[in-house]
Amino acid sequence: MDKVRIGVVGIGVIGEFHCKHIVKDASPEFRLSAVCDRNKDKAQAAKAAYSVASFRDPQKLFESGLVDAVIIATPHYWHAPLVIRAARAGLHVMCDKPLASTVGPAKAAIEECRKRGVVLAGMLQHRTRPIMQRIKHLVASGEIGEVFRVSMICSNWFRTQAYYDSGAWRGTWDGEGGGVLINQGPHHLDLFVWIAGLPRRVIGLLDTRIHNIEVEDTANFLCDYGGGKVGYIYATTGELPGMEQFMVCGDKATLIAEGHKLRIGRLQHGLRDFTMGSITKLADEKVKNDAVWTEEDFSTNKGGQHIEVIRAFARHILRGEPLVATGEDSLEELELSNAMYLAGYKDKPVTLPIDEREIDRLIAKLQKTRSTGKGEGIRSKATRDLRKLLAEG
Ligand SMILES: NC(=O)c1ccc[n+]([C@@H]2O[C@H](COP(=O)([O-])OP(=O)(O)OC[C@H]3O[C@@H](n4cnc5c(N)ncnc54)[C@H](O)[C@@H]3O)[C@@H](O)[C@H]2O)c1
Repeated sequence: MDKVRIGVVGIGVIGEFHCKHIVKDASPEFRLSAVCDRNKDKAQAAKAAYSVASFRDPQKLFESGLVDAVIIATPHYWHAPLVIRAARAGLHVMCDKPLASTVGPAKAAIEECRKRGVVLAGMLQHRTRPIMQRIKHLVASGEIGEVFRVSMICSNWFRTQAYYDSGAWRGTWDGEGGGVLINQGPHHLDLFVWIAGLPRRVIGLLDTRIHNIEVEDTANFLCDYGGGKVGYIYATTGELPGMEQFMVCGDKATLIAEGHKLRIGRLQHGLRDFTMGSITKLADEKVKNDAVWTEEDFSTNKGGQHIEVIRAFARHILRGEPLVATGEDSLEELELSNAMYLAGYKDKPVTLPIDEREIDRLIAKLQKTRSTGKGEGIRSKATRDLRKLLAEG
């Protein structure tokens, strides 16, 4: 193979965007070869727009021989069954976030791709942002010392009620299996876990504060890493003007990223050594360990484009170059968000890894008790399909 022929499944908001950019940035390494949407008008419109083969049934696309790889961009509950079907047809798969609504189906999708020897990549494009790569490097290289506090505020995901009303599946238990944590939050949860690691325990609050939806629009969580290291996550679709702030405090330095600016405050002496070794008495003397602050500006180099992830996917298939995110990476952010659902809706601390049957039982209960019927039964249909696929083996 010298060029990866890509098919896109689900030509909605993001599938359309992927198609446009694959065509616009087509390179010697990949091209758009087919599209698929169960909605007849969307399938036909995409065929006309991109002059490629069009399907309404994903299975027919997978078996067409027209593609080497597919991008799955349907509502989340369909992700795992479609990844499994594509893998069984021998196709490499990029799954848009989240890999599934709960960890059980996500693990089944990963296992199937491993068994079939096909690539499974995650669409977690925020990892390509230079500011986040810089933070990742500063933490991973030990430059800021041992981390003891991480905080992430992502209230930059504002959505109107009209957004939730724009699709039957949006904002429902039945259609997507959660709110801000499962739809908008995965990018930030992924950055949080990528940089700080998975916590061992979470405690927190979920609320539907401002929207008329079945699911949460606001999440407030404390993460316990053990040994005194803690994390805090705040995510909402109900705040304006909203902000993105990521803070990491370590023994040698503190990082504060706000929007596209990163401030780094480097201590003159390591915090632990200074605390234990200094003879300064806080009550009546100035502490002689001021930080030296520098600022880095990333506003002309924002990155975070989906096409960068697709390009890396094609290069990985062709030449084994690194992916931006693997299926396992996608599973980690999902493990955290599932733990947050259990903790928030059951009002108890939750230890990771979670019990995957417990989260499925919780979502089933929330669907039963809070569903308005808007979600069109996607969860039951996709779950039935997944069970059938797993039984077939
Ligand atoms: N990476 C990102 O930045 C990003 C951005 C937006 C959405 N997403 C993810 O992409 C997915 C889709 O979101 P959206 O906003 O584009 O939704 P959407 O409702 O606009 O589009 C989904 C499309 O999938 C089609 N579809 C549904 N089930 C199907 C099936 N079984 N087979 C074929 N087609 C099917 C629908 O007809 C629709 O056209 C979600 O999982 C979402 O989380 C990712």
